[in-house]
Amino acid sequence: MENTSDGIPDNVNGAIVNRNQTNLAVAPRVGLRAVVESCQITESHCIFRQVILVSYKKLSQKCGIGDNAAAEDSGGAISAAKPDWDPRQYLHFADERLRPAIDLAARIGHPGPRRVIDLGCGTGNALPVLSARFPNAELVGVDSSPAMLEKANSAGFTTQLADIATWSPPQPVDVIFSNAALQWLPDHAALFPRLLACLAPGGILAVQMPAMHNEPVRALQSAIALSGPWSKQLSGVTSAPPVLEPAAYYDLLSERVCAVEIWITQYLHVLRGEDPVVQWAMGTSLRPYLDALRPGDRPEFIAAYSKALRPHYPPRADGTVLLAFRRLFILARKQ
Ligand SMILES: C[S@@+](CC[C@H](N)C(=O)[O-])C[C@H]1O[C@@H](n2cnc3c(N)ncnc32)[C@H](O)[C@@H]1O
Repeated sequence: MENTSDGIPDNVNGAIVNRNQTNLAVAPRVGLRAVVESCQITESHCIFRQVILVSYKKLSQKCGIGDNAAAEDSGGAISAAKPDWDPRQYLHFADERLRPAIDLAARIGHPGPRRVIDLGCGTGNALPVLSARFPNAELVGVDSSPAMLEKANSAGFTTQLADIATWSPPQPVDVIFSNAALQWLPDHAALFPRLLACLAPGGILAVQMPAMHNEPVRALQSAIALSGPWSKQLSGVTSAPPVLEPAAYYDLLSERVCAVEIWITQYLHVLRGEDPVVQWAMGTSLRPYLDALRPGDRPEFIAAYSKALRPHYPPRADGTVLLAFRRLFILARKQ
């Protein structure tokens, strides 16, 4: 395995690490550091969050992460999703999806991590946040979707195309961060201990996962899938399985680590546009159904889902729609 001049291997564990080495692509990272360094980050969560939000918006303008242009191009109308993750659809609500990543990163109390991994980094939304939080760390984003990684690569971040189910680092890492990704993997009773084993002593596993399984935005997906003319096509198709109860994660982790912190935050996202909750779901949880449908059936499926969702997410007086979104946060520190 060959190391590059900055010590980050180009080939980790036999998998491809994509590195964009043009000056233009690397510039945003440097720019973010400069912004953060000039802002006097304190330990205060609020101040850190403000700094990151400011930095993130600057970065978004520079490198296209969180760029809503694509969604606006379509006039906000709902269109059928492409197979695999669709970065454009996902980034339609980039700011809302970034908030939990900022909150999670702010709570990671590692004194000076050298190696930080973003598992399921997707388009790289959280990579600028992690880069600012841990400016001296080697940072690698891992994801199994080439389409999502392309966006992270174009912003100059180091990424690895890999399946989390089989991923392991070439050497122990100090922080494993994962925002809104591990819920897509089964068997957390095996996965979480395996990830802990990838940590160096004092290392931290920091995870955020949606806990929305029984909410209309999720429950109505399977109901519509089972009830329409597409029921045969969609038999056996499911979205991300429900996460475990918080106490189950505590039991799983507490016997293996020296400190566990778990909390739930419910965000009240203020969404705009036509059927914005449907747009939201099309970027994430609705994706498996859309992928499995014949393209010709997708518009009707989306129309049925939209109609079923509307009474649950009525527009407010100002035309916005509120999406109450519960997220489970887990921090575990290894001895
Ligand atoms: C909802 S997106 C979250 C992306 C990013 N963490 C963020 O906060 O914006 C979920 C990501 O998890 C990735 N993912 C899902 N299952 C995966 C797996 N088994 N291995 C690697 N990545 C996976 C998807 O490709 C997708 O990019």
